Amino acid sequence: MEIKTPEDSKTTLTDLVLPGETNPLNNLFGGELLARMDRAASIAARRHSRRIVVTASVNHVAFNKAVPLGSVVTVEAKVSRAFKTSMEIFIDVWIEDRESGRRTKANEAIYTFVAVDDTGNPVPISQIEPQSKLEKDRFAAALRRKQLSLVLAGKMNPKDATELKALFE
Ligand SMILES: CC(C)(COP(=O)(O)OP(=O)(O)OC[C@H]1O[C@@H](n2cnc3c(N)ncnc32)[C@H](O)[C@@H]1OP(=O)(O)O)[C@@H](O)C(=O)NCCC(=O)NCCS
Repeated sequence: MEIKTPEDSKTTLTDLVLPGETNPLNNLFGGELLARMDRAASIAARRHSRRIVVTASVNHVAFNKAVPLGSVVTVEAKVSRAFKTSMEIFIDVWIEDRESGRRTKANEAIYTFVAVDDTGNPVPISQIEPQSKLEKDRFAAALRRKQLSLVLAGKMNPKDATELKALFE
């Protein structure tokens, strides 16, 4: 199978924050942002695998900065590491200053998607080679995040989470 780069899967969704999408403080509702991130991540996973993909887990979400009503929000998703049938997708969220056009990082999230066949069974995917320093850092840390996610889901014995354990040694 062809080896791909994170850039091959890059997916950018830019949209406004409208009144029906906000909380009582007039900031973007968390669930709406999760949905936008899930959509962008799903397209990135599809671009990498060229398969049907399903969300297996949301490993990390940080709502660091509120996103006010009327903001222009850009959600950028890229596959950070491919395993056998699963992929880690890193999502960066930016807001754009109306006057200067300058982008500020607002939030980030990490999702795991699995490529499946027509009957929902996991299928192997292409491997990935990170190029930039950031892509290499994210690639390197992805294995321990996968192990953490599997341990928390009760799908891996903590004793087998070697990469994760190495963090505490
Ligand atoms: C995701 C799904 C296909 C995994 O099925 P499964 O029976 O656990 O399959 P496997 O054990 O073979 O796991 C497949 C891959 O997913 C990974 N995986 C499964 N659960 C995971 C989790 N919680 N976190 C991280 N990775 C996970 C496995 O490590 C494996 O990765 P690898 O092949 O790259 O090593 C299955 O649980 C599913 O269909 N879930 C519903 C998905 C869905 O509908 N999502 C939308 C949300 S409403």
